[in-house]
Amino acid sequence: MGRLTFFLLTIVGLFAVYSLKSYQAIEVNNERFDFEKAKKSHTEKVLEIEKLHVAAAMRYAPKVVEEVEVVQGPLVELSTPELQKGHDLYGKCVVCHGKRGEGKKSQNAPAIGGQFDWYIVSQLQNMKNKTRINKVMDPYIKKLSDSDFNDLANYISKLPKAWAK
Ligand code: HEC
Repeated sequence: MGRLTFFLLTIVGLFAVYSLKSYQAIEVNNERFDFEKAKKSHTEKVLEIEKLHVAAAMRYAPKVVEEVEVVQGPLVELSTPELQKGHDLYGKCVVCHGKRGEGKKSQNAPAIGGQFDWYIVSQLQNMKNKTRINKVMDPYIKKLSDSDFNDLANYISKLPKAWAK
C-alpha cells in the first residue's frame, strides 16, 4: 500500500468518524394534529408577545414625575412671639428671597433660608449702616431695629435649607 493511499484512507476514516459522531436521530412525532391544542398554544404566544410589547413601550415612555408634597401652613413652627414677629417681618422679603428663603434669580436675590442667624444679623446691620451697599434692600430695612433683625434672623435661620442640594 502506497503512502498516499494510506494517507487518503486515514482522511476518509476520520471524516467517517466525525460524521457518525454528529449524526442525530431525527425524532418522529407520531402525535396526531390536535387543533384545540394548537389554537391554545397560539393564543398563549400572542399574549406573551403582547406583554413584551407593553414592557417595551413602558421602557421608552416618559417617566411620570411624582407630585411633590407642598408644605402647608408656616414652614417654621411659630412657637415663640419672637418667631411670630420674625415670620411677619419676613413677609416683606418674600418677593425677592422666596417663601422658603430659596432666593430668586430674576431678582438677583441669594438664598438665605437656613443661613446662620448671626450672619444674617451682621449683614442686615452692615446694609443698614452702609458698610455693605444694597440699594434694593435699603427701603425694606432702614426702618427696622436691631431687635427686628434678630427676630428676622431667628426665623430665616430656621427655614429649610432648600437650596443646599
Ligand atoms: C427688592 C428685593 C429684595 C428684598 C425685598 C429683600 N432683599 Fe435681601 N437681598 C436682595 C439682593 C439683590 C441681595 C444681594 C445683594 C448683594 O449682592 O449684596 C440680598 C441680600 C440679602 C442678604 C445677604 C445674603 C448673603 O448671603 O450675604 C440677606 C441676609 C438678606 N438679603 C435679607 C433680607 C431680608 C431679611 C429682607 C426683608 C426685610 C430682604 N432681604 C428683602 C434683594 C432683596
